[in-house]
Amino acid sequence: MGTRQGFFLDRRVLTANMRPMFRLAHFSDPHLGPLPDPSLWQLASKRVLGYMNWRGNRLRSMGGDYLARLLDDMDAARPDHIALTGDLVNIALPAEIAAARDWLTAVAAPERLSVVPGNHDAYVPGALKSAMQAWSDYMTGDDDAMTHTGSAHFPFLRRRGPLALVGVSTAKATAPGFASGRVGVRQTRRLTETLAGLGEAGAFRVVMIHHPPFKGATSWAKRLEDASRVRAAIKRSGAELVLHGHTHIDSRTMIEGPNGPVPVIGVPSASHAPGGRKPGARYNLFDIAKTDGGWTCHLEERGFIEIGGGIEVIDRAELVIPSR
Ligand SMILES: [Fe+2]
Ligand SMILES: [Fe+2]
Repeated sequence: MGTRQGFFLDRRVLTANMRPMFRLAHFSDPHLGPLPDPSLWQLASKRVLGYMNWRGNRLRSMGGDYLARLLDDMDAARPDHIALTGDLVNIALPAEIAAARDWLTAVAAPERLSVVPGNHDAYVPGALKSAMQAWSDYMTGDDDAMTHTGSAHFPFLRRRGPLALVGVSTAKATAPGFASGRVGVRQTRRLTETLAGLGEAGAFRVVMIHHPPFKGATSWAKRLEDASRVRAAIKRSGAELVLHGHTHIDSRTMIEGPNGPVPVIGVPSASHAPGGRKPGARYNLFDIAKTDGGWTCHLEERGFIEIGGGIEVIDRAELVIPSR
């Protein structure tokens, strides 16, 4: 199951004057199904393996109405904003990308939902470009919309209340058997500069990234190839919270920041059935409030534990946010 380094979690009780002021929901890896029947030419690629994998493993462990019920529960929690960290689709067929666009529209308006792509959204060469065009409203920064219509560029920056959502893309097409990601030199440079500027401005910086950037997070074939670049950017410029998906497990750890460890929180797939090898569908709610000395961030993890059961509170915790 998930990995947890609990020593950075301080289960302090919220005092009366620490009123939650911004609620952020995070979910990931919906791997929307079912897959449309692909034509033969569309399967003449890495997609052959992905299609077989989906028909076997994913058909058994994913699907059902878990995602819809999870989203209903999330809606009832009335988050101010929602973060979705990639793998919306499976083998990135054109029909999957178009269906995912319709699904996004039903989940929330682009102003309330921010998305970064995952490796499955870039399953074969050319797929990521199609996905970025179809989903661009959800992946463009506040200031990018005017100059970058029709596509997204990363990292994007969106300001919502006290939060600054910084969306990083790690998505790239890979060879069969690989699910790795890459940030690249140019994006890292922009990430470092963006985080530094936001730190000066006193924002609560949330880095959204599909692949986890901490050491030993995945197998070699699924790793973020230049995770050290992301860690260096955060070590230098800082962040208050890093959210990721990709591993389909619940994980809590931290990476080094200039003023102390930065929490790194991973959430399981939002579509997974409970009772399997990986956790059932879950999402996280973060209640973030500014205090005199910095920030409080209360985490509530919600989702399915048992087959046939409903959505439960799985855990509650106070994250220690480094103060500047
Ligand atoms: Fe995934
Ligand atoms: Fe992934």
